[in-house]
Amino acid sequence: MSKPLIRIEGISKQFTGRDGAVTTVFEDLHFSVNPGEFVCLIGHSGCGKTTILNVLSGLDQTSSGYVFVGDREVNGPSLDRAVIFQSHALMPWLTVMGNIAFAVSSRWPEWNKEKIRAHCQQYIDLVNLTGSEKKRPSELSGGMKQRVGIARALSIQPKMLLMDEPFSALDALTRGVLQEEVLRICAETRQTVFMITHDVDEAILLADKIVLMTNGPHAKIAEIVVNTMPRSRTRHDLHKHPHYYRIRNHLIDFLVDRSKAFASDSPDYDPRHPPLVTPGLDPGEVVAAETPKPPPGKPLVAVVK
Ligand SMILES: Nc1ncnc2c1ncn2[C@@H]1O[C@H](COP(=O)(O)OP(=O)(O)OP(=O)(O)O)[C@@H](O)[C@H]1O
Ligand SMILES: [Mg+2]
Repeated sequence: MSKPLIRIEGISKQFTGRDGAVTTVFEDLHFSVNPGEFVCLIGHSGCGKTTILNVLSGLDQTSSGYVFVGDREVNGPSLDRAVIFQSHALMPWLTVMGNIAFAVSSRWPEWNKEKIRAHCQQYIDLVNLTGSEKKRPSELSGGMKQRVGIARALSIQPKMLLMDEPFSALDALTRGVLQEEVLRICAETRQTVFMITHDVDEAILLADKIVLMTNGPHAKIAEIVVNTMPRSRTRHDLHKHPHYYRIRNHLIDFLVDRSKAFASDSPDYDPRHPPLVTPGLDPGEVVAAETPKPPPGKPLVAVVK
C-alpha cells in the first residue's frame, strides 16, 4: 500500500463577515490522495470546494487542521502543486510556447533556451497543440486556451495537479474531447490529480474516487465513492458498463437529497474516516483488479445502495 501523497487532517475554514458574524464554511474534513490517484470533489455551490483547493495549493490557509504533501506540512504555494483554474489565466502577451516556457524556466532556472524549448514542445504535443506554438491567447479558442493551461501545469512535472472546474466554461463537445485527453494524459503520466467538478459524468469518467461534500455552512465529507469501473473506460463506452448507472444514480441521489439532509450525528459517522462506498457493485461482487484499493482495515464491499 503506497503512502498518501496528500493528507488532509481535520481542516476547517471560517470567514468573518462585514457585520462581524463568523461563518464556518466546512469543518473537520479528513481525506487523502494516493500517488497516481485521480480524486474528484463534488458538492453544491458554496460548500467550500474552491477554498479547499486553494488550501491544497497553498494560496489560502485553514482556520484549523493540517494539510501534508508527503511528510511536509503545506505552508504556501510550491511548484510541487500546479493549479488549472476555470479561466485559463494565461499571459496574453506571450505565445503558447512563451506561456509554457515561463513556467518551465521558473521551475528549472539553470536550463538553457534550447532545453526549455524542447521540454515545452513535448507538452505542447501531448495536448495536441502542435503547430500553434507561436499563437497568442487571443488567437486561440476556449478549448485551446485550456489545453495550454493543462500543458503549462504538466510541464513543471508537479507532484500534484489541482483543477477547479477546468472544463465548465467550454461547450459540451470541446469539454468531451478535453476530458478524454486528460484521461489519456493521466493514464500515460500516472499524474496525481485533485479536481473539483459539478458534472457527475465527468467525475465517473475521470475519477478513481469521488469525495462527496454536504451543503454548507458546516459542510462535511459525507462519504467517498470508489469508482469500480475499469480504468480503461472511455466516454463512448462508459454508459454500457453495469456499474455506470448505479454510481451515477448514487451521486445524483446524494446531490438532490442526501447532501441537504446528511446527519453527521448518526452513531456510525466518524469524520476522521468518512464511509468508503461502492455503489457500482452488486452485493458480493468482486472488484476488478485495477480498482484502487481501500486503506487497510476498510473492506471494499458493496455497503451502500
Ligand atoms: N474571502 C472570503 N471572505 C468571506 N467569505 C468567503 C470568502 N471566500 C469564500 N467565502 C465564502 O465561503 C463559501 C465557500 O466558497 P467557495 O468558493 O469555496 O465555494 P465553492 O464550493 O467553490 O462554490 P462554487 O461551486 O460556487 O464554486 C461561500 O459561502 C463563500 O461566500
Ligand atoms: Mg468554486
